[in-house]
Amino acid sequence: MLFGRWVALGVLGAMGLAAHAASVKKQPFGKTQAGKPVELYTLTNSKGVEAAITNYGGTLVSMKVPDRAGKMGDVVLGFASTEGYLKNTAYLGALIGRYGNRIGKAKFTLNGVEYKLPVNNGENTLHGGPNGFDKVLWTAKEVPGGLELTYLSKDGEEGFPGNLSVKVVYTLTDDNELKIDYSATTDKDTVVNLTNHAYFNLAGEGTGDILGHLVQIHADRFTPVDAGLIPTGELKPVAGTPFDFLKPHAIGARINDKDEQLKLGGGYDHNFVLNRKGAGLELAARVVEPKSGRVLEVLTTEPGIQFYSGNFLDGTLKGKAGKAYQKRYGFCLETQHFPDSPNKPAFASTTLKPGQRYHTTTIYKFSTEAAR
Ligand code: BGC
Repeated sequence: MLFGRWVALGVLGAMGLAAHAASVKKQPFGKTQAGKPVELYTLTNSKGVEAAITNYGGTLVSMKVPDRAGKMGDVVLGFASTEGYLKNTAYLGALIGRYGNRIGKAKFTLNGVEYKLPVNNGENTLHGGPNGFDKVLWTAKEVPGGLELTYLSKDGEEGFPGNLSVKVVYTLTDDNELKIDYSATTDKDTVVNLTNHAYFNLAGEGTGDILGHLVQIHADRFTPVDAGLIPTGELKPVAGTPFDFLKPHAIGARINDKDEQLKLGGGYDHNFVLNRKGAGLELAARVVEPKSGRVLEVLTTEPGIQFYSGNFLDGTLKGKAGKAYQKRYGFCLETQHFPDSPNKPAFASTTLKPGQRYHTTTIYKFSTEAAR
């Protein structure tokens, strides 16, 4: 009897979970350069919030969330089909790997061996090289409430050592959180730094610049860069600089200040050293778009976050609704280990060894707040 009751409760529990898990719908999304079919997977939660992800580059294509009046809007920049992504020079929405952000002078040394990487940004390697994880077709599998993407990056691919087996799971919760779980294992010592490169505009993609968004970043320090946007190695206090986002500031409020770091980045394009209490998920940043009332919170297990104010967007990319993405039409908050860590022994290590499991989690949580 008691046993029967437990079984019934278990079944109900499972049904309850199923009822709250986001639904997943799959549709064709075009073809790769090599003619392989690409799919778009749309996750929808019980509130009608939608996240659409394609297996091409593991890319977040759209994210539809309500404003304070309940009106839905697509808050990420993206394209209508795979064709746009084949020419995506700005990494819109993509999964980034094997090494997110820059590796200085396109090389690093591991266990006494120097590895040379392809150059694709000045004299440096950016976002895993010209054929990084943003340009590959991932294997997709629907899982409860989300999508699992896997990719085997072969030993030597884009110059990196070791066969790296990567798994990224996107989950959409009923609390309007898009959760991204990254994991990887290797068969040789290598370096790994995975992230997502979504550009957000909480007023709606293509509607204008993001300078009025209020940004708060829980970081007392940031990593200043040289002319090639490689960290100098210094952890510089944000106090008294335009990089102090401990209290919310509009992105545009100080972006044109006379500041050497802003000049080098052409705006904000810097890694912030997150104030962390432990190793778990902690709030890294909060962004408010005052007119729509939409709020984005970023929680992560990572030590750093790249705040990029879309300085290199120049109107050449046209988005899914046909609107040109002009300078600063989107901002990125890329959770990560610090740029160029493989060449900076003082930074937290990005080395992964056989037998270890790389695992990081980032949550993009959407909500609204009342008019100020
Ligand atoms: C980098 C920018 C770069 C952009 C490419 C960002 O992560 O920090 O410098 O231009 O990615 O879209």
